[in-house]
Amino acid sequence: MVRFVDVGNINRWAAETGVERILTDMVEYLERDFRRWPIFDKAPRVASHSPLGVIELMPTSDGVTYGFKYVNGHPSNPSRGLQTVTAFGVLADVQSGYPTFWSEMTVLTAFRTAATSAMVARALARPDAHTMAMIGTGTQSEFQALAFRGLLGINRLRVWDTDPEAIAKFVRNLAPLGFEIVVATGATDAVTGADVITTCTADKANATVLTDAMVGPGVHINAIGGDCPGKTELDAGILHRADVFVEFTAQTRIEGEIQQMHPDFPVTEIWQVLLGEAAGRTSAEQITVFDSVGFAIEDFSALRFLQDAVDQTPFYTDIDLVADPDDPKDLFGLVTAGAPVLV
Ligand SMILES: NC(=O)c1ccc[n+]([C@@H]2O[C@H](COP(=O)([O-])OP(=O)(O)OC[C@H]3O[C@@H](n4cnc5c(N)ncnc54)[C@H](O)[C@@H]3O)[C@@H](O)[C@H]2O)c1
Repeated sequence: MVRFVDVGNINRWAAETGVERILTDMVEYLERDFRRWPIFDKAPRVASHSPLGVIELMPTSDGVTYGFKYVNGHPSNPSRGLQTVTAFGVLADVQSGYPTFWSEMTVLTAFRTAATSAMVARALARPDAHTMAMIGTGTQSEFQALAFRGLLGINRLRVWDTDPEAIAKFVRNLAPLGFEIVVATGATDAVTGADVITTCTADKANATVLTDAMVGPGVHINAIGGDCPGKTELDAGILHRADVFVEFTAQTRIEGEIQQMHPDFPVTEIWQVLLGEAAGRTSAEQITVFDSVGFAIEDFSALRFLQDAVDQTPFYTDIDLVADPDDPKDLFGLVTAGAPVLV
């Protein structure tokens, strides 16, 4: 049997556990896996592009467990009443090749993206950071805000989105949770006085959500919306002034903000910072950029976290996914058991 977490169960589990607690607990799994980064299988994800979006497969393995995520990115989906990003994922046993765990990952991706952003910001943002600008208040945004509060104690938010209804939804969801929220008059207003800037927009274009002039010294930029060829958020001038940190360089050069830069543009992989093998922030004036695109190991960590979290709970069901006859050579017998064979 394969354990399966559907949308209803992940939502019931999240409601019982608490979103902020899930985000901070998940960081422990992420950080542990980032610290053993070299042992994982790694390759840029396999992308199938179309005019409206992309569908991607994201596999990895630590030699014991294999995992993959199916995910799409369709920025115009909300105008048709659909999610920009949906996903599901699987874990499997490397010894047998049998799948062991299957989960919805639309919700889980929001958790893992926010937890990864906050984990990276904890290593790179100024320790005295207290205000975050949130540009793009769609699906991912509340998760991002809760992760930054849980890990960095950031409670002041300056928010902007081109869609006023998305801003109203964000305020409606987070104001009751004790955040201090200022609705900005535009992106420039939003970043004024912010120590951390999260760009979380969706546009299948080389957008300039942040211009060079909008970014002052000491800021940490958590850029999550530039994650596809031809889909970026930052003016290249910012990248020239900043130190840029990535997940897996080979994938980020294809998909991240640094697709705008020369292939030799220097970047640091964040696992090296977490292991103390490379410098993170070295001065209060430095601009740091997390050029996030989302890497398979983060989904692997999130799936393993969820698998452990729902163990011994009612928040999964067993499903009969693998045809497994008693005689491993007699699949035909399993198919025809109890029924006359029509040939
Ligand atoms: N890096 C990662 O690991 C990762 C993971 C998940 C999603 N993403 C990306 O993050 C982005 C946000 O995802 P989502 O699910 O929240 O999408 P969403 O469509 O729900 O929200 C995006 C929001 O951005 C707003 N927006 C678009 N252009 C803007 C602009 N120029 N200025 C201000 N606001 C603008 C839209 O109105 C919308 O409210 C997407 O681009 C998605 O592909 C990245």
